[in-house]
Amino acid sequence: MTKPTCDVWWAEPAQAHPGLLDLLDEEERARHARFRLAADRDRYAVAHALARLVCARRAGCAPQEVRFTLHCRNCESRREPRTEPHGKPRPAGPALGLEISISHSGDRVALAVSDGVEVGVDVEAVAPDRDIDRLASYTLTEKELAAWHALPGAERTAGFFRYWARKEALLKATGDGLSAGLGSVGVTGPGDPAGLVAWSAPKAPADVWLTDLDAGADYRAALAVLAPGPVALAMHRAAPLLAAG
Ligand SMILES: CC(C)(COP(=O)(O)OP(=O)(O)OC[C@H]1O[C@@H](n2cnc3c(N)ncnc32)[C@H](O)[C@@H]1OP(=O)(O)O)[C@@H](O)C(=O)NCCC(=O)NCCS
Ligand SMILES: [Zn+2]
Repeated sequence: MTKPTCDVWWAEPAQAHPGLLDLLDEEERARHARFRLAADRDRYAVAHALARLVCARRAGCAPQEVRFTLHCRNCESRREPRTEPHGKPRPAGPALGLEISISHSGDRVALAVSDGVEVGVDVEAVAPDRDIDRLASYTLTEKELAAWHALPGAERTAGFFRYWARKEALLKATGDGLSAGLGSVGVTGPGDPAGLVAWSAPKAPADVWLTDLDAGADYRAALAVLAPGPVALAMHRAAPLLAAG
């Protein structure tokens, strides 16, 4: 089997411009308009325009021809799913066959794109949180919690977001999202290379490749690819593509 490949594109909400809205479909434009904060609007516009631009380039079509269908693994396995479309975007139309994942936090927008293997990306701004102990108590497994408590105080916050990004990248790769519970997946600790330790889900994937991504000092980010690995990774700056888009 050939080595799976994955492209990771990095953008910033400051790269938003009105022209990007022409690339979005009607539903995306409606959602964009519903955000009350300009920062949320910009993160959304940049992420979704970038997804179309990158998929169009790969598929050899116009960005407006790319469509995305949304899939929530949690709801798809239930009898009464939420009716409005939500969940993980999957390219359709001329870009059918590509797999993508989107994440945005603070000044970072990340897009992962692969040729048919499922991918999940997550970026988290490291922000002090009064509730971090409570949050840790239900998002970390017992073993993780013990290791996290053993970290020096100054490393706790960033360490927590390292765990979070690794776990969420995995849950976004499967399309479960947070509704599966971050506690359902166990990962290696912040001082160790990224890796899956345990996944207590009935349909946990057999092949998982997990890596940290460098999103700058104030961020923690991770990428999960549902393939045996190693994965050939390529990083890209999105600024030129967005400026031309
Ligand atoms: C969606 C979710 C994974 C996003 O996490 P987050 O850290 O807040 O945000 P991120 O920026 O990292 O990711 C957002 C992107 O994840 C993608 N996404 C949404 N649901 C997803 C899922 N189930 N699996 C993978 N990716 C998903 C979308 O592309 C979204 O981008 P958009 O908001 O611009 O459309 C998380 O909030 C979640 O699982 N929520 C579901 C809770 C819920 O509503 N449950 C009830 C219905 S099941
Ligand atoms: Zn759902």
